[in-house]
Amino acid sequence: MDEAMGRPLTGFTAGRAGSALPGSTERSGARRIVEEDGDMPKPRIFSGMRPTGKLHLGNLFGALINWVRLQDDYDCVYGVVDWHALTTAYEDTSEIKSNTRELVLDYLAAGIDPKKSIVMKQSDVKQHAELSLLFSMITPLSWLERCPTYKEQLRELEGREIMTHGFLGYPVLMAADILVYKADAVPVGEDQLPHLELTREIARRFNFLYGPVFPEPQAKLNEVVLLPGTDGRKMSKSYNNVIEMSASADEVRRAIENMVTDPARVRRTDPGHPEVCSVHAFHKVFSRTMLDDITRECVNAGIGCVECKRRLALAVNEFLEPIRERRKAVEREPGLVEDVLADGAKRARVLAEATLEEVRKAMRI
Ligand code: TRP
Repeated sequence: MDEAMGRPLTGFTAGRAGSALPGSTERSGARRIVEEDGDMPKPRIFSGMRPTGKLHLGNLFGALINWVRLQDDYDCVYGVVDWHALTTAYEDTSEIKSNTRELVLDYLAAGIDPKKSIVMKQSDVKQHAELSLLFSMITPLSWLERCPTYKEQLRELEGREIMTHGFLGYPVLMAADILVYKADAVPVGEDQLPHLELTREIARRFNFLYGPVFPEPQAKLNEVVLLPGTDGRKMSKSYNNVIEMSASADEVRRAIENMVTDPARVRRTDPGHPEVCSVHAFHKVFSRTMLDDITRECVNAGIGCVECKRRLALAVNEFLEPIRERRKAVEREPGLVEDVLADGAKRARVLAEATLEEVRKAMRI
């Protein structure tokens, strides 16, 4: 039913939305258009995450849920970018493999469907590396040195030895990830916009030097969902304030019990201030239909924080239950993750190699 959404088929979309004309004529008309539409290539999407551990609710709402939605309207390639994990963690690589597996499980549990989308691991598709090397030849150092994410990370990770070629070249490899599939759009968070800008600059420079091969991929900003960490700051593994996507019902309950609420609400009879309370910020996401009641009962001290948290835990667990179930089902099948990645690599290589053939020809290499 959603197959034609987001594509420029206004006639069909409008007809379907109206659906005022029941009967066989209209239905068969719609079917005909759907079939024609099936031949039209969908725009391509690439996005990826580094395998640095299990995903948390911030990742789920900040990215994954969007990725799942995009699967029907786009040709999606979703990557586990394991080489990128090495840019800051090259010394201890012991967990990259297991983290890759966990990340694929999280993708599948969230609803990424490997029949619809390509789920692949970066290091399985060597064309990413070849294209990254070729891009590195035409990318001025100054573009990389002025990249705000680079400067910021240098400051943040001060003391760690990350003054490496690979770390500086992070955006070049990322451009290769995206352009090797000639992606039209890249769903990312705002923090990745400088990288997308660099990707477009590299594409433009390549096209200018060797002829038109690459599109200029656009960022597709993830819908912003304001889900703070359990302490009220941004949810982030480094702050130790996350709830993992795969947390058990008990873990969710415990994490919520320990959440920071309105500091001014000391006694049960004190009125609460929902606007400063992270439990309330969660309710906004998970308890939409009951939100008005919950807000009122907080402000007039009708319920205490304990009861408010109990309701939140119920809502979060209800939301996570199907995701947990899917994860369990996938985990139970031996070799499934390996099969998904093998199939993804095979399909990704075909696309990537076609691009590299064009690239080598354009560059006379
Ligand atoms: N830099 C991205 C991040 O930290 C991960 C990434 C690598 C990526 N290559 C990509 C995202 C290509 C989108 C497209 O989140």
